[in-house]
Amino acid sequence: MTDQLIIFDTTLRDGEQSPGASMTREEKIRIARQLEKMRVDVIEAGFPAASPGDFEAVRAVAATIRDSTVCGLARAQFADIERAGEAIKPAARGRIHTFIATSAIHMEKKLRMSPEQVLTQAVAAVKRARDFTDDVEFSAEDAGRSDPDFLCRVFEAVIAAGARTVNVPDTVGYTMPQQYGALIASLRARIPNSDQAIFSVHCHNDLGLAVANSLSAVLAGARQVECTINGLGERAGNAALEEIVMAVRTRKDVFPVETRIDTTQIVAASRLVSGITGFPVQPNKAVVGANAFAHESGIHQDGVLKNRETYEIMRAEDVGWNANRLVLGKLSGRNAFRNRLQELGIELESEVQLNSAFQRFKELADRKHEIFDEDLHALVSNDSLTPEAEHYSLVSMRAHSETGEAPEARVTLRAGMVEHTATSTGSGPVDATFKAIEQMAPSGAQLQLYSVNAITSGTESQGEVTVRLAQGERVVNGLGADTDIVVASAKAYLNAMNKLHHGAARLNPQA
Ligand code: KIV
Ligand code: ZN
Repeated sequence: MTDQLIIFDTTLRDGEQSPGASMTREEKIRIARQLEKMRVDVIEAGFPAASPGDFEAVRAVAATIRDSTVCGLARAQFADIERAGEAIKPAARGRIHTFIATSAIHMEKKLRMSPEQVLTQAVAAVKRARDFTDDVEFSAEDAGRSDPDFLCRVFEAVIAAGARTVNVPDTVGYTMPQQYGALIASLRARIPNSDQAIFSVHCHNDLGLAVANSLSAVLAGARQVECTINGLGERAGNAALEEIVMAVRTRKDVFPVETRIDTTQIVAASRLVSGITGFPVQPNKAVVGANAFAHESGIHQDGVLKNRETYEIMRAEDVGWNANRLVLGKLSGRNAFRNRLQELGIELESEVQLNSAFQRFKELADRKHEIFDEDLHALVSNDSLTPEAEHYSLVSMRAHSETGEAPEARVTLRAGMVEHTATSTGSGPVDATFKAIEQMAPSGAQLQLYSVNAITSGTESQGEVTVRLAQGERVVNGLGADTDIVVASAKAYLNAMNKLHHGAARLNPQA
């Protein structure tokens, strides 16, 4: 007998809690569409009470996604729950995920509440959430360090109050696989009404054990795993979706479960999330790293040529490698362009956005005759802000570098309706470009990260630049792509400045 293992993706919520990984509404919609295409069961789209922007993003994802459940996070407080209930209203299937901490240290030091108060609040929160949807999940934050007897009481009470899923987070990544599996098994055995809820796990990777802990819990009867693409998430991240899914699929002999995931969409999802957040994927990362299927040593290559199973336990094509087929070229028309975007799950909201993306596609095709799917993703990621949110835009620029001369950049940008031009020197053309921008639009922001990636292979490829700027408490990522990496850098810098310009303050649910 195989059970279904529910895949609950929290890239858009816990993933977004990584410093610098915050996403715009449009970026969240683009990732949610890819998750839906991958057949993720539940998409946790955000924490609606965090800010008006987060609320709007969850609402927009709920209005867009039809084939996955869309979930909003809420602390166990009525105001949060009402906000989440409102945000998921347009969803075909909506879930409220409410949580409160249950470990002694969190209750005493953070919440300053007694265990009895926590229990009462948990039950009240679940009941309130049921006023909005039948699909209510309850999490006992820091369950990994909570007293198991108390956990039994809380879970029994919230199940009786209407929680259909109970989640046992290892919030601080402290547990060991055997111990965590035993905790799940004992909760299921001891809680009298445990058969009325699905047991879920949510593991953080502080000791590098998030995937191992989640899999151990699956063996102990957990039937929902909360995870993120590329393992993105608070601190060291969450359990990586691609590793969980491929582990249970590859080791069917060990795990009596199957997922609904279309694994051929995994690499596309990984690239999309990495591109949008600016968090690169390490080459040796399992499943989605560039070297995950590369055989370097002669002995391995020889073995794979004779029989691929000598060294390969999964097929690269099963997770979507080698799928970046040539798509469009200079002569492709607007319809072909629109169709390919749709096939990639990219739906631009208006004709104006489509026209502007098509214009950029034509400009790119003049410079680069082979346009791959990755180029199209990069092309539209420049549209991650709505036109109204684009306060700063690049009008033109020129950069000069010559051996023995100080590199110089001249940049013209538009700020609101006004054009400005400035020239600056710097230690390199990129440095000079950023200094010229700062002369015209001083942000005082600190540059925390600058990275360049080739989107496809070859020197003709577009360079995709990520710029991370910190201004006080706020950290944003800007992205820019162009065949000229200095121009891509200027675009990325301005993209980050636009996010700083428009961003409202947001709350971290666990703060
Ligand atoms: O890590 C955690 O405990 C969480 C909860 C909100 C589920 O993210
Ligand atoms: Zn978490």
